[in-house]
Amino acid sequence: MAYLLTGGMGCIGSYVIRDLLNAGEEIVVYDFAHDLTIPKLVLTAEQLEQFTFVQGDITDLPHVLRTIKEHNIDRIIHLASWQVPACQANPPQALKIVCEGTINMFEAARLFNLKRTVWASSVAVFGLPEDYNHQQIANDAPHFPKFIYGACKSLNERYAVHYFDNYGVDSIGLRFTAVYGVGRTRGMSSFTTQMIEAVALGRPYVSPFGDDAVDWQYVEDVSRSIVMSCTCPPTKTRVFSVKGGIRPVKEGVAYLKKLVPDADITLEPGVFGISWDYDATPIAEEIGFTPAYTMEAGILKTFNRFRELAGLEPIDEA
Ligand SMILES: NC(=O)c1ccc[n+]([C@@H]2O[C@H](COP(=O)([O-])OP(=O)(O)OC[C@H]3O[C@@H](n4cnc5c(N)ncnc54)[C@H](O)[C@@H]3O)[C@@H](O)[C@H]2O)c1
Repeated sequence: MAYLLTGGMGCIGSYVIRDLLNAGEEIVVYDFAHDLTIPKLVLTAEQLEQFTFVQGDITDLPHVLRTIKEHNIDRIIHLASWQVPACQANPPQALKIVCEGTINMFEAARLFNLKRTVWASSVAVFGLPEDYNHQQIANDAPHFPKFIYGACKSLNERYAVHYFDNYGVDSIGLRFTAVYGVGRTRGMSSFTTQMIEAVALGRPYVSPFGDDAVDWQYVEDVSRSIVMSCTCPPTKTRVFSVKGGIRPVKEGVAYLKKLVPDADITLEPGVFGISWDYDATPIAEEIGFTPAYTMEAGILKTFNRFRELAGLEPIDEA
């Protein structure tokens, strides 16, 4: 039996490949193209040879079904998606990729009676802090998405409930926040990773959202939450908010300046535009997941991995 991992050539997917290989699992990666640019930043040369790759499009249901049958799949991890900028630029195609692509996974899970489908939602389903009276957002709070991307993920959450209630499809959705780490190259919240890379390589950086405090969610924690969700006992909750830790962007900059005192970072004023404060108690209680990385630990690991990839010596806190 094997895992079907859609979007496995992307950032989070590359870490999931690593964690599943370390757990001795068989993996079939399903993605647009065999582009190893991101996996090569994360995986060893040996690990790059240890999974099966199938080129395909998640909107192509017959091909998804054929792949599941031919490879004896019993669990799906569905990460393939467009992110905020691509969805905003092409709303009709966003509906096809983000919604139809995800519904295809639920349909496949139903037809093949798969054991579990774990899929990525996003906190972009939620709205502005004022939509929630500036209070922490409960796991089951109403959705007020500000972008097409969040609206599409919200529709997927509704479909997950429908497939569970009507056909018993066992799925777990995970709402991630602002994921950072080596390999995060796309999406509106990739600025934290870009900033860490620039400082690690001695380049100047102008950061947006200088007035915001964002959720710093390190990619290795994200991958661990996904892998835990694949085999945990069935949950009563269909979709969980998953968080790292809310810290001002300014504090991330201050930590980078501690590592490189003459780092050339300019902070532009402004806020990201969504709330970052939500309750992650349900995933801790039902799945047992809590993040392991503080902002400092995640930045340091990312910073030194960028240096290692560039052939530079690691730097530790003074
Ligand atoms: N990175 C974050 O901060 C964040 C936050 C919240 C939620 N998420 C969600 O987590 C998931 C993974 O994010 P990521 O940062 O690894 O994304 P990514 O952009 O790095 O990777 C996405 C992968 O999906 C593939 N893909 C896109 N459309 C496809 C299609 N139609 N058919 C097959 N493959 C397709 C791409 O080729 C790419 O390899 C996504 O669902 C995303 O919406 C990410």
